[in-house]
Amino acid sequence: TYVVTDNCIKCKYTDCVEVCPVDCFYEGENMLVIHPDECIDCGVCEPECPADAIKPDTEPGLDKWLKINTEYASKWPNLTVKKDELPEAKEFDGVEGKFEQYFS
Ligand code: SF4
Ligand code: F3S
Repeated sequence: TYVVTDNCIKCKYTDCVEVCPVDCFYEGENMLVIHPDECIDCGVCEPECPADAIKPDTEPGLDKWLKINTEYASKWPNLTVKKDELPEAKEFDGVEGKFEQYFS
C-alpha cells in the first residue's frame, strides 16, 4: 500500500484524490490518509502530491504512518473531489514536527 505521511499535515493539497482509481483517500481536518486495504498500489498518486507526502509503505521507517493511515481511514470520511488546499499550505510545506503539533 501507499501511505500519506507527515508533510500532508497543514497543507492538504488534495490533488491525490483526483487520480486515485479506487477513491481510497479519507479526510481529517489537517491531512488525508489512504485506506491500506483499499489501495491497489498503482502508484499514480505519489507524483501528484505537491508536498511529496505520499510514499510506498515499503520505504523504511513508515510503520508509524501505516498505523495512522489504517486507524484514521476507518474514522474519517471519504474524499474524492479536489478542494482548495489549506490557506497555510505554502507556509507549512516542509516544516518539521507537524505530527506532534498539528495532526488532526
Ligand atoms: Fe489510490 Fe493508487 Fe495512490 Fe493507492 S497508490 S492511494 S490506489 S492512487
Ligand atoms: Fe496531502 Fe499531498 Fe494529497 S498534501 S492531500 S497527500 S496531494
